[in-house]
Amino acid sequence: MKTERPPAKSEQLRRHLADLLVGELAPHERLPTERSLAEEFSVSRLTVRRVLDQLEREGRVYRVQGSGTFVSEPRIHKSVELTSFSEDMRSRGLRPGSLEVSSERIPAGADIGYALQISPSSQVLHIRRVRTADDEPMCLEHSYLPAELVPDDLGPELHGSLYEVLSARYGLTLHRAEQTIKATVLDPDDARALGAPPFSPAFLVQRTGFDARGRAIERADSLYRGDRYSYQLTIYRDPQ
Ligand code: GLP
Repeated sequence: MKTERPPAKSEQLRRHLADLLVGELAPHERLPTERSLAEEFSVSRLTVRRVLDQLEREGRVYRVQGSGTFVSEPRIHKSVELTSFSEDMRSRGLRPGSLEVSSERIPAGADIGYALQISPSSQVLHIRRVRTADDEPMCLEHSYLPAELVPDDLGPELHGSLYEVLSARYGLTLHRAEQTIKATVLDPDDARALGAPPFSPAFLVQRTGFDARGRAIERADSLYRGDRYSYQLTIYRDPQ
């Protein structure tokens, strides 16, 4: 006769935490400490940490140094994928790049401050980049990051992927974003930067990105050439 073996202790712990995350704890509530979980499930702290690492990779919890592990904001499953410019271009078989990269520290001002949930007088890092695809200008991007979260100037690193730098240097990972897309035309300065005729059509994509803690980490205006860019979404019908 075949007897079912009870699940390993780490699996019991994983299931226990999964139940806590769906049922008992609300977003931003603290999980029990690593030490108390280790005691309760008679496993090592290292085992607890591995289970929490996995949940963190899945975006279901986040950690705050010195304070503990917290429940992430819920993800909306039907939403479209949140990609960086680099990922977006690569998925189209194009090589991403950046030209005319500059950055400066400025006060947020009313609009950016409001989007980033900081005071208008707080400093932000403003990054301007002409984003290229196979070396051709595709998009003019202005990103604003709270200086409190991003204290350095970043400089040459900005020729690569901003999202990768934010994650590697500061552990800041985009979890969700609010985005609007508007039709517009290029003013003469923006048209020059993009190598397109003045007043030609463009898409303005405005994104505010949040991490799993719900902190706004980037506000960006991306102006795409209408003749080169198209918005592509995979959309699903709700079976209900
Ligand atoms: C998209 C977003 C921007 C973001 C950028 C990061 O274009 N609309 O808000 O700054 O991706 O892309 P990358 O990581 O390639 O720099």
